[in-house]
Amino acid sequence: MANLDNLPPNQSDLLVAQDLTRHYQVSRGFMKGQATVKALNGVSFTLQPRKTLAVVGESGCGKSTLARQLTMIEPATSGVLSIEGVNVAQANHATVKAMRAKVQMVFQNPYASLNPRKTIAATLDEPLYINTSLSSAERKEKIDAIVQKVGLRPEHVRRYPHMFSGGQRQRIAIARAMILNPRIVVADEPVSALDVSIQAQILNLFMDLQEEFGAGYVFISHNLSVVEHVADDLMVMYLGAAVEYGSKNTIYARPLHPYTQALMSATPAIREEDRRLKIKITGELPSPLNPPSGCAFHKRCPYAVERCQQEVPLLRPIDDRLVACHRIEEIAA
Ligand SMILES: Nc1ncnc2c1ncn2[C@@H]1O[C@H](COP(=O)(O)OP(=O)(O)OP(=O)(O)O)[C@@H](O)[C@H]1O
Ligand SMILES: [Mg+2]
Repeated sequence: MANLDNLPPNQSDLLVAQDLTRHYQVSRGFMKGQATVKALNGVSFTLQPRKTLAVVGESGCGKSTLARQLTMIEPATSGVLSIEGVNVAQANHATVKAMRAKVQMVFQNPYASLNPRKTIAATLDEPLYINTSLSSAERKEKIDAIVQKVGLRPEHVRRYPHMFSGGQRQRIAIARAMILNPRIVVADEPVSALDVSIQAQILNLFMDLQEEFGAGYVFISHNLSVVEHVADDLMVMYLGAAVEYGSKNTIYARPLHPYTQALMSATPAIREEDRRLKIKITGELPSPLNPPSGCAFHKRCPYAVERCQQEVPLLRPIDDRLVACHRIEEIAA
């Protein structure tokens, strides 16, 4: 379970993020100087082996920015990102290089993430060739094994990405992520581009591989019904920050933050009794270039009062999870 007491990190934590922040400097136009996009505005969470943290929130809330921090594609602006005890948030090139094989990523669009000019065998061989000292026979053995584990046939390795269906391509992308036996897998909307009938198969594959290899997963989605069956913990994000964080079962049984309630009631596949909370979100996600004062959600929140316009709510414990809302005691009551 997530560490809800702000205790020192646990020995069993694979990953600890503390106040992880990523800001981007952007130009406001000719002669107008720079502005700051607060894409990720201080998130904290932990991940344990064999556990899945689902990160949900609407488009633009900072999910992929978080994924880029976790996979060390870009450095954090501030905060701590500890992977197996090593802080990589602002790590130098050598540390990042040494740590990178431990964290692998699966993207939304498997076609764009696979090299169209490479056979599957070449795609899967590359990470092994770069990161291990295995002989070519040993590498071939590993490739054959992972291809079988993700449900493809041995002869598929001679084919190119365009010769597969979307679901099969995502299986290849998963094989590539898994072949180095990573400690952590970050999956950014990994089934959003797939047919609904294929989604369940790919989700099951993720779960089977977790069972077998024991990696911790960070599973990003805008869709609460997709993560319902894979998540152990859930972090709901709004405009670069967590608004509710805790065990999935606790939050699905009774979402507390008005934004989580609104997301739940907007998810058609969630059981009808869980959709009794008919909160509608109106308007758009505010811009992280010019975030609202106080609680970032106040302009869309049916419970907002004056205090919500002025003070930023902190994440605090209530009912076995953390929630950032000034009025949460009244809402929960
Ligand atoms: N390199 C960058 N420079 C400037 N702004 C950026 C950059 N990357 C992301 N942003 C901004 O940060 C915010 C968060 O973007 P991000 O891609 O993390 O959202 P997301 O939650 O993944 O959305 P989606 O569900 O659409 O994928 C957006 O407002 C985006 O425009
Ligand atoms: Mg994204």
